[in-house]
Amino acid sequence: MKVLVVGSGGREHALCWKLAQSPKLTKLYAAPGNAGMEAVAECVPIGAEDIDALVTFARDTAIDLVVVGPEGPLVLGLTDKLEAAGIRTFGPSAKAAQLEGSKSFTKDLCRRANIPTAAYAHFTNANDALAYVREQGAPIVVKADGLAAGKGVTVAMELADAEAAITDAFDGRFGDAGAEVVIEAFLEGEEASFFVICDGERAVPLATAQDHKRVGDGDTGPNTGGMGAYSPAPVMTQDMIDFTMTRMIEPTLATLKADGMPYKGVIFAGLMITDTGPELIEYNARFGDPECQVLMMRMQSDLLPLLDAAAQGDLSGASVAWHDDPALSVVMAAKGYPGAYDKGTPINKLDEAAAPDNVEIFHAGTARTDGQVVATGGRVLNVTAMGASVAKAQALAYAAVDTIDWPEGFSRRDIGWRAIDRENA
Ligand code: AMP
Ligand code: GLY
Repeated sequence: MKVLVVGSGGREHALCWKLAQSPKLTKLYAAPGNAGMEAVAECVPIGAEDIDALVTFARDTAIDLVVVGPEGPLVLGLTDKLEAAGIRTFGPSAKAAQLEGSKSFTKDLCRRANIPTAAYAHFTNANDALAYVREQGAPIVVKADGLAAGKGVTVAMELADAEAAITDAFDGRFGDAGAEVVIEAFLEGEEASFFVICDGERAVPLATAQDHKRVGDGDTGPNTGGMGAYSPAPVMTQDMIDFTMTRMIEPTLATLKADGMPYKGVIFAGLMITDTGPELIEYNARFGDPECQVLMMRMQSDLLPLLDAAAQGDLSGASVAWHDDPALSVVMAAKGYPGAYDKGTPINKLDEAAAPDNVEIFHAGTARTDGQVVATGGRVLNVTAMGASVAKAQALAYAAVDTIDWPEGFSRRDIGWRAIDRENA
């Protein structure tokens, strides 16, 4: 099969790395890809949101399956356009991708399908929203309704923070994404992520993971896209996984199908494990990044037939085998991230760092200039390892981080701390 992966991050590198191992693959393309993906895929210079150019390329190249990594092109309707051109695609339609693209869409769906999630209200003007938070009091959570690159959420521990977030959103800080806000009750607990693959009707569970969103050690400092992750998430028991399947995922798929927008692709459920069980924080219409990297390390089964079966609408009988060992990924970012940072700084000794068994370095923001790998983004490398325990995976990953020669980069030094504390308890 000829496969095209859309995207240029560590998530897409991990997908390409895994797809490249499939005996069913004849040729792999990535658009636009990055310096790391060049080792396993032919990178074509088409942006992930250049919908028309992607459709033309896929048609002209007779691609058998397109795998869409990020949410942007999904919300823009890449799947719809590819399918209209007769090209099989793994990823939801624009309508179904509203599960990630619109928080009020998902909250309404949760209400109708009786899915456990925080109580909420939806506002289209600042005054009503302000009156509501003053009545509810803090802590409370204010969310811009649309896609805001992960920056649209304020967990307000004080009323004044909630008021400021509302004022900012309606003043246009998130553009159209903030023209509406969802205000939610504050949930207390430990967060976990759960991933499933869907074919429009059925869902096959993948695995659990936890990420570290804050930039600093000890989960301090500003939020980021994710500074590291590990899988599985020890907080999620099998009972909680079953509960999430039957009380969240299955009713979600049934409701979307009944509404005429069957969901094909990955669902990433962000959960809060509260004292009374899992509550849904949000859905994403894609794999997590860097959660995908740890999932791909742990997956034993061939990924390609699984994604293809989902895209064809028939996952009946499908199951996925996993390595029991945990995997852990450390993000190396450019100094300054998530604020301003330099681009174009050289990175060396990547091959040496990735040499040990069970270590993979996925590229998230790199390019090759005259043969030299350089950093092109904020999050740049995902140094990923699998080991007999989270502590062992962590030690392997940090040995590789310490081998990499990139003076302008940094990483957190405590990825996996919660799971390692549990191992040591
Ligand atoms: P979201 O973009 O919806 O994933 O929210 C970003 C982060 O805000 C989540 O990962 C949580 O850490 C936090 N968060 C979102 N909703 C809530 C809530 N209702 N209660 C507590 N924390 C929340
Ligand atoms: N790492 C969190 C996300 O991909 O949304």
